[in-house]
Amino acid sequence: MMRIAMTEEIPEREARAFDTDDGRTIFITQRDGAYYAYNNLCPHLQTELEFLENQFLDQDGEYIQCSTHGALFLVETGECISGPCLGQSLEKVTINVHSDGGIYLTEE
Ligand code: FES
Repeated sequence: MMRIAMTEEIPEREARAFDTDDGRTIFITQRDGAYYAYNNLCPHLQTELEFLENQFLDQDGEYIQCSTHGALFLVETGECISGPCLGQSLEKVTINVHSDGGIYLTEE
C-alpha cells in the first residue's frame, strides 16, 4: 500500500494530480468530506483531462470536466453525464484515508 497524498493537500471542491509509482497520473478530489480518485484519462480519446495544472473541475466545482471537449463527469462515480463520452466513466482508483490523514492507494 502506497501513500499518495495527505488529505490537507486536497481542499473541498478542488482536485490535485499525483504520479503513481507505476507511471500513471491520477487525480483526487474532495466532495463533502469524502475523497474520490480517478486515472487521469478521458474515456473519449484517452487524453489527460486538464489543460491547466490541477484544473479537473468545472467552474463551479460541481463536476469533473475534460478540457478537450468539455465532457462532464460525476465526482462520486466518474460517470459521464454530458459530452461525447456520455454514459462512459472515468476509471476509478481505490483509495483509503487513514486516521493519520494519509491517502493510500490500495491497488497493486
Ligand atoms: S477527449 Fe475528453 S471529451 Fe473529448
